[in-house]
Amino acid sequence: MKPWPYPLWLAHRGAGRLAPENTLAAFRAGAGFGFRAFECDVKLSRDGEAFLLHDDTLERTTSGRGSPAGLDWTELARLDAGGWHGPAYAAEPLPRFAQIAAFCQANACMLNVEIKPCPGDEARTGAAVAREAARLWAGALPPLLSSFKPEALAAARDAEPALPRALLLDQLWDGWPEAAEALGVAAVITNWRLMDRALIERLHGSGWRALVYTVNDAAVAGRLIADGIDGLITDAVDRFGPHRPDAP
Ligand code: G3P
Ligand code: MG
Repeated sequence: MKPWPYPLWLAHRGAGRLAPENTLAAFRAGAGFGFRAFECDVKLSRDGEAFLLHDDTLERTTSGRGSPAGLDWTELARLDAGGWHGPAYAAEPLPRFAQIAAFCQANACMLNVEIKPCPGDEARTGAAVAREAARLWAGALPPLLSSFKPEALAAARDAEPALPRALLLDQLWDGWPEAAEALGVAAVITNWRLMDRALIERLHGSGWRALVYTVNDAAVAGRLIADGIDGLITDAVDRFGPHRPDAP
């Protein structure tokens, strides 16, 4: 396997339980707990700005309505993406991908960018996020680009072949090893329920790193670390992580 420069622990959606997910406030919270690696979800506005948001619609985590794919960035930038979490975060904006890149580089943090296209926008999003990542991280330890959508990863590969990629799996669907091979991935990231020592060894045997999401249970984390896992994405930023004495 190739060298793997990324930390073992990654904070999910920034530190997206302690602060509003996928906002700069969440990244600041995670960094405050000593995390030096983060996962976040990135999609495109109608006019092609890369920004952070998990859902296909705006209702759950912003003051907006409907699909973000139908709005330009100037409209998305006016939304409140923090008030849903609590009044302390009212008026927290949606961050542009470029702002998160700046935060991570200033704080020596690694980023796992989950390419999370709005439905039907897979290829445009994969290519645009890869191009933006290559520009923002030029000369620095690059972010790991991941996606559940092979079409998005293929577009990222074609746009910026040198950036590391990871296939996300919520089930072991037929043909996933062939897809991972064709996509030239550096890693496979599965739901933790799918991962065990045999799968870790199989992935390592193919030259791929093995990572899991979203591990919030100490016993599960301990088992996977003993089995040789290369990375764990967690919401439990206040309980696990690089500087916690009680971490598995
Ligand atoms: O990237 C791993 C994890 O974030 C995938 O699930 O739904 O939280 O984006 P989700
Ligand atoms: Mg995600």
